[in-house]
Amino acid sequence: MVYGSHVNVSSIALFPIYGFSVKYFYSRLRQLTRNRSQALAEVQGHLHERVQGVPVTRGFALEDHEQKQFDKRNYHYLDRALKFTNWNAKSYAVTHTITDIAPLLVVALGGYFVIIGNVSLGTLVAFIGYMDRVYQPLRRLINSMTQLTQSHASMDRVFEFMDEEYDIIDSPGAKTLNTVHGDVSFENVSFKYDDEEEEVLKNINLNIKKGETVALVGMSGGGKSTLVSLIPRFYDVSKGKVKLDGVDIRNYKARSLRNNIGMVLQDNILFSESIAMNIRIGNPQATDEEVVEAAKAANAHDFIMDLPNGYETEVGERGVKLSGGQKQRVAIARVFLKNPPILIFDEATSALDLESEHLIQEALEKLAHNRTTFIVAHRLSTITHADRIVLMNNGMVMEQGTHDELMKKQGYYYDLFQVQELSSEKENENTIQ
Ligand SMILES: Nc1ncnc2c1ncn2[C@@H]1O[C@H](COP(=O)(O)OP(=O)(O)OP(=O)(O)O)[C@@H](O)[C@H]1O
Ligand SMILES: [Mg+2]
Repeated sequence: MVYGSHVNVSSIALFPIYGFSVKYFYSRLRQLTRNRSQALAEVQGHLHERVQGVPVTRGFALEDHEQKQFDKRNYHYLDRALKFTNWNAKSYAVTHTITDIAPLLVVALGGYFVIIGNVSLGTLVAFIGYMDRVYQPLRRLINSMTQLTQSHASMDRVFEFMDEEYDIIDSPGAKTLNTVHGDVSFENVSFKYDDEEEEVLKNINLNIKKGETVALVGMSGGGKSTLVSLIPRFYDVSKGKVKLDGVDIRNYKARSLRNNIGMVLQDNILFSESIAMNIRIGNPQATDEEVVEAAKAANAHDFIMDLPNGYETEVGERGVKLSGGQKQRVAIARVFLKNPPILIFDEATSALDLESEHLIQEALEKLAHNRTTFIVAHRLSTITHADRIVLMNNGMVMEQGTHDELMKKQGYYYDLFQVQELSSEKENENTIQ
């Protein structure tokens, strides 16, 4: 019977080699899978951006250049995919060879013992039958191994994404903001986007009372958009405090704070849905009548009625494209529905035609009534009525006051106003000619 146990041992003799090779091949396979997914993500990310930017590519006749850029990433992906496939084939071949050699060993050794008469033929046949029961599941396991490894690598990427931290985290004792009076103050506020970079806002002090309309003006890149994005805590200050009704806004849960702020931003994004749904973002529970009411208040009702399906017209990628001014009015309608005590309007840099500008202006004045309002403006003629004008340059407040006060002062604002007035006079002359 001692010979029988030799056969036994031979049947599992290759197990350790098998174990090592699985470990060796499949851990590298996991890395290669990860590299391949990474390369694929790059191709997809690139495509996503470039498909959106097709007008730019066409406009600058960059087709050949873009083709090369795409090829570069695509070949990179191909290279990673081939490396993966190559290694996968090797892993498969080696592990399968091992599981195939083991039965051969048993047959050879067992056959030899049968010939010399130490083991009966029946025992050997039975043994081989049993062995199959061990090796069949093992083979199946290897076949699943590739898939398992790939899933494992994909799971790593999913977890990486899920572990990504929010920039803004509510502090442990954060309270829900319920009632807002509307006083907003900046106390010695400094801010930088990146620790290594320069401060974008430098020691800002502003005290804004409930219901006040504040216009932020100044050079492009001066920090106006950055300043207003601190109010809903899109970013937290680096130094100093932003206070709402005397309380540091970091004491509130970010979402409850944002519930009380209405925003119309520089580029307003519409989703690929009906106009009505897009307006309803301001308040998902709003009735159809309320949506129409809001659109009317935002001076958007008339152009919406001119669209093929009125409020049910699909907009965005899959539907009608709206002009900048129309998008802005939809965004204003959203805010009317939301009805927040604090309002932020970051005017689009692109100039609107006079009529849209007038319609937006009118809607905005209605909206600003009784709310603390921040307007970032590029055309000074639109904000001369503001309760306060704050001129920003290089992240600092250079001047503040009403239009009349600042004009009397004959400082930066005065200069800027002169320049814009002159250029608009020229525009008028041009149109007259
Ligand atoms: N997300 C960001 N990451 C890093 N730096 C940024 C970011 N956004 C803006 N900046 C930088 O901060 C500075 C102020 O930009 P900001 O957008 O606040 O200016 P702005 O006054 O709104 O200009 P504009 O009138 O052109 O809209 C700029 O130097 C800009 O490069
Ligand atoms: Mg801006």
